[in-house]
Amino acid sequence: MSLVSSFAPGSTSRSSSGFDPGRIRSEFPILATRVNGKPLVYLDNAATTQKPQVVIDATDRYNSAENANIHRGVHHLSQLATEAYEGVRRRVAEFLNARSPREIVFLRGTTEGINLVAQSYGRTFLQPGDEVLITGMEHHSNIVPWQLLAAQSGTVLRVAPIDDRGDLDWAGFERSLSKRTRLIAVVHLSNALGTINPVSRITEVARARGIPVLVDGAQSAAHLKVDVQALGCDFFVFSGHKLFGPTGIGVLYGREELLERMPPWQGGGDMISTVTFAESTWADLPAKFEAGTPNIAGVVGLGAAIDWVADLGLDVVGSYERELLEYATAQVSSVPGVRVVGTARERASILSFAVEGIHPHDVGQVLDAEGIAIRAGHHCAQPVMAHFGVAATARASFAVYNTRDEVDALVRGIHRVKQVFGG
Ligand SMILES: Cc1ncc(COP(=O)(O)O)c(C=O)c1O
Repeated sequence: MSLVSSFAPGSTSRSSSGFDPGRIRSEFPILATRVNGKPLVYLDNAATTQKPQVVIDATDRYNSAENANIHRGVHHLSQLATEAYEGVRRRVAEFLNARSPREIVFLRGTTEGINLVAQSYGRTFLQPGDEVLITGMEHHSNIVPWQLLAAQSGTVLRVAPIDDRGDLDWAGFERSLSKRTRLIAVVHLSNALGTINPVSRITEVARARGIPVLVDGAQSAAHLKVDVQALGCDFFVFSGHKLFGPTGIGVLYGREELLERMPPWQGGGDMISTVTFAESTWADLPAKFEAGTPNIAGVVGLGAAIDWVADLGLDVVGSYERELLEYATAQVSSVPGVRVVGTARERASILSFAVEGIHPHDVGQVLDAEGIAIRAGHHCAQPVMAHFGVAATARASFAVYNTRDEVDALVRGIHRVKQVFGG
């Protein structure tokens, strides 16, 4: 059967476990889009995922029937909005297996969550010369907040090395720990390489030394089942928009004992208990960290997204995507002149690659003409690019609604790229 004739928008490819992505594709209206007269092949899920109709409906319903400000109102709509908002907090706690909804802080996203920890925990508890340890595969949002902290507080940023496959170099990681290590901040699933970091192993070592661990879960939340207690982490951050939810909403999970000791990082309404001109006192957790009117509609949409993905089952999602990624890796790397960047032992969802002699932006542009959306660039991980000696890569990133037919379309697209550029 020719690859061309096998492809049609929404055509499916059942996995060996029987999961059929075709069943869910129709729940995503945007997937029916045509680009340049071709069916959209959306492979930019690491940047942001698409939203199922239930998420779109939940925010629409909130805005058309329940909109009010939360917490302070006694009227009907305010109570509905407050219940919706706090209900999602309970749902998120359950989704992450947190011990209590008090451990769930709503904020804009992963970036804001890491900045909160750096500014509140870091500036309060870290002394000049204390070390924050990250890895060589971090997104800029898990590098720059620690550099800001270093400039403010005299802390030192240390980086555990990665190897040529894109795995954490474990011996190097252990060597990077010192008597001054006061915080470890690691990405769970690398957005540039797809590497899954051994977070439980890291937290085990950290616990033995009394070092708190922050996990950047921006990429993992939509692809791996997350249990913060089993992971043993102290902080876990993720963004709603990478988990089939709206933009502008995310979550910081923090162990209650640490959040209790941390000061607020922003002041304003809703985060206080009492205010006089002389001094103010803080609200209980988690309101202490939620100054001002939050993104209530975003929280409602996030709740619908979590329900949607949890109903599907993250174990089902994970095993389907694993097969899809294996297939994609084999197909793409079999194209002559294509090099896969990042071949870690455990990977999920991400396929970064370089086409010999052709700039990733050109790859992205020709693929776009074919209706295929990938990302070309440094993926906000310039040190990773430097490690692999490239300025940028082309990156296909998969979600549970992607199919083998779409992988085949990508491979045909890469052949087309080579044809256009005479490769
Ligand atoms: C690994 C990782 N961390 C952090 C972020 C930042 O997420 P956001 O822009 O939603 O705050 C991203 C976004 O791509 C990411 O992939």
